[in-house]
Amino acid sequence: MNLTRNERGELTIRGVSLPSLADAYGTPLFVYDEDEIRSQCRRFHDSLSTSGLDYTVSYASKAFSSVQLFRLMNEEAMGLDVVSEGELYTALASGFPADRIHFHGNNKTEAEIRYALDAGIEYFVIDSIGEIERIDALADRDVEVLVRINPGVEAHTHEFIQTGQEDSKFGLSIEKGLALDGISRIQAAEHLVFKGVHFHIGSQIYDPNGMITTIDKVLRWLHENNIQADVLNAGGGFSIRYTDEDISYPIEDGVTRITETVKNVCAELDYPVPHLSLEPGRSIVGEAGLTLYRVGTVKDIPDVNTYVSIDGGMSDHIRTALYDAKYTLQLANREPEGKEITTTVAGKLCESGDLIAKGIELPPVEPGDLLAVLSTGAYHYSMASNYNQMLKPAIVFVSGNDHRLVIRRQSLEDLLVNEVTDDQLGKTK
Ligand code: LLP
Repeated sequence: MNLTRNERGELTIRGVSLPSLADAYGTPLFVYDEDEIRSQCRRFHDSLSTSGLDYTVSYASKAFSSVQLFRLMNEEAMGLDVVSEGELYTALASGFPADRIHFHGNNKTEAEIRYALDAGIEYFVIDSIGEIERIDALADRDVEVLVRINPGVEAHTHEFIQTGQEDSKFGLSIEKGLALDGISRIQAAEHLVFKGVHFHIGSQIYDPNGMITTIDKVLRWLHENNIQADVLNAGGGFSIRYTDEDISYPIEDGVTRITETVKNVCAELDYPVPHLSLEPGRSIVGEAGLTLYRVGTVKDIPDVNTYVSIDGGMSDHIRTALYDAKYTLQLANREPEGKEITTTVAGKLCESGDLIAKGIELPPVEPGDLLAVLSTGAYHYSMASNYNQMLKPAIVFVSGNDHRLVIRRQSLEDLLVNEVTDDQLGKTK
């Protein structure tokens, strides 16, 4: 995100000052640069369209689902990848066309399958042998499906966000023959129409070679086994920068290398060129979002550490506790002053592991200051919880030099909406 300081030393996005947003909407607050989200979509479109291939780029909605975001995705001609009835419901509520939505998941329930069939989604991505019969039995007309294959590729990323290795809950293994078995069962099923294959080798991958090697392997495997795939969906997983140590996936070069690989391998094998689909999540929204927190307690433990506690925590920021993820933080309400000190920025929840950033160098911070945690646009709000009965933050989109609320902060009353009261039980005091 492009942040600059104004004459008062406040951080601004496109001229909108972060302290003014904190005043207007409160903290913790997620702030997105809407124009950056759009431009990320366009970078994928531009790179794919210059290849001349038939293509789709679908947003992986697990990264951040919201009605206003889905409207934007529709305007940007994106498809949508959903993994639950909740994501599908949110997408449909936004008016997103069902025929540009596909449904993933290693354990789609019968209710979810029915819901997606009724909605008329574009296709299901079959993830297991058992699911073939389940969808076929529930369908009363032809339904297009892709098969999620497990290509047996180990991506170099955090163990919990690796997905392509052999021992995985996702996909049908090529090596073990499950993928071929699945495809022949689909071809024999009454209502299922085999459209192609999908794979996803992992997340936060900065090196294009992983996907390229996998595409090469998968196309050769399809050719050897005489399988005609009209669609090749190569998943998402394109990296973003959380800190200076990270590399943003080189979208233009990487996508060009991907499309060239598809064209070259197909030409070499004389295999019909499939429709290419990608489904990025993090790279569309990740760097476009930040979280704004208000500093409360500052605790200095002499010769040990300085703890700066903010007004949110693992309820809106779980990735540090879960993946030991690293972040860049900036003082948002004034120019930093004084020598940087080693600081641990902690959340306010009752758990020692509730940290935002451990032992980072920060300028001295005081109660009342605002801290911006950068690159929190993906997998933060979507992984938020009400642990400690914390309220989920509000979300604001900045566009041009304007801003608008897209998700309200939860209220205390919201915390009780599902509680069954004595009244409802017909009890009297
Ligand atoms: N397609 C499939 C089938 C996926 O499983 C995923 C992510 C994506 C696309 C999108 O991947 P992306 O482009 O966003 O990397 N909670 C973790 C990330 C889990 C990702 C799971 N699958 C995190 O916070 O890093």
